[in-house]
Amino acid sequence: MASTTSGTKVDLDQVAYFLITGASRGIGQRMAIETARRFRAGSIVVLLARSASGLESTRAEILEVNPHITVVTSSVDLSNASRELLEDIIGKSLGKKPVESFGLAAIVHNVGTIGNVERKAIDMADRQEWEEYFATNVITVGVLNSCFLRRFGECPRKLVVNITSKACLVPFKSMGFYCSGKAAREMYFKVLADEEPDLVVLNYSPGPVDTDMTVDIQGRSNAEEIRAYFKGLRDTTTMLTTHQTTAKFLSVLEAGQFKSGDHSRVTLPVLITAGFMILNFRWEVEINIHTERIAIQGVDDGRGGGGGGGANRVAGVAAIDYSLEESWESTDEDEDDDEYDEDEETEYDSEGDDEDLSTDDELRRISLVTF
Ligand SMILES: NC(=O)c1ccc[n+]([C@@H]2O[C@H](COP(=O)([O-])OP(=O)(O)OC[C@H]3O[C@@H](n4cnc5c(N)ncnc54)[C@H](OP(=O)(O)O)[C@@H]3O)[C@@H](O)[C@H]2O)c1
Repeated sequence: MASTTSGTKVDLDQVAYFLITGASRGIGQRMAIETARRFRAGSIVVLLARSASGLESTRAEILEVNPHITVVTSSVDLSNASRELLEDIIGKSLGKKPVESFGLAAIVHNVGTIGNVERKAIDMADRQEWEEYFATNVITVGVLNSCFLRRFGECPRKLVVNITSKACLVPFKSMGFYCSGKAAREMYFKVLADEEPDLVVLNYSPGPVDTDMTVDIQGRSNAEEIRAYFKGLRDTTTMLTTHQTTAKFLSVLEAGQFKSGDHSRVTLPVLITAGFMILNFRWEVEINIHTERIAIQGVDDGRGGGGGGGANRVAGVAAIDYSLEESWESTDEDEDDDEYDEDEETEYDSEGDDEDLSTDDELRRISLVTF
């Protein structure tokens, strides 16, 4: 595995080729818009998902913020897309433009489905269900990634982003498909990073974000505590917005705050979890080992007029952080996760973020919870 963070800084202010999956809504839509905003004239942005209307609305928003680039949409079902089809999509999007003309070739594997969360692991006997899940979430991701990297071999700078999840590291009830798919997918990208030191590979975990996916989990999970967790986040409007996680994503990329291939996480103020601490499920554990400095209150949260409440939330979080850490440190599980944390994850150095995101001179320590 790459051992330093040097060299992972990505300059988006250039003529880029940028392909993103799952760009019709949710996190992928916002990431596509905000990333494309930074590219120079002559760049090509390729948006993939099934919904043609969703892709078209993403395209329209991109062209509003950056009219000097080309945006190509392709409505495709990634559960059954062949290698030939994927190569064709990339080839057609390039037209006659040589790959050497791009300063950056980037791909974001954002597509993701939650799988059947009504099933417990003991009931996952339907072979077709397994195959369909892995086809969309793992197999096509690997195939598309290979097609992309083969095509852009001559491009001087290549970035590969996998949108991952805490669920690839720890088990969450009712999420047998999701957890196992995310684990397999992230490991593929870790191997890639290990084999290709010249690539920048970011496994980015966006935190719990208000999208269709989390609505779905909240409504359908067979595990009461999982439904309650997401309901709590949603009721208190403390779930991250797609704007917030995208702002963090871009700051991590542009500051190079990660080691290629490592699992990199985003954050959530934890005051909202106070009511859940007594539930003693795994998210709680995460609260204690991932404390970092971030100023979420300074980010436009995309909720319209948000931000005023952010500072209050952050101040409250600081108050509960210490007692949590104390109780955490006394458990065996703590040692295991700490070990993991050191070896496998990048903890963001907050210095760059603080400048970009904070509206307040005083930095505050916030506990974090991830999904
Ligand atoms: N939301 C969270 O809290 C959270 C937390 C951690 C990680 N993540 C990860 O972040 C990524 C985006 O999640 P999200 O919350 O934004 O999900 P979402 O709102 O459900 O969006 C999923 C995207 O994937 C596309 N998609 C799904 N199945 C597809 C298929 N068969 N073929 C092509 N495209 C397909 C959807 O487009 P169409 O329906 O138009 O095809 C949509 O654009 C996922 O990888 C997810 O695992 C999310």
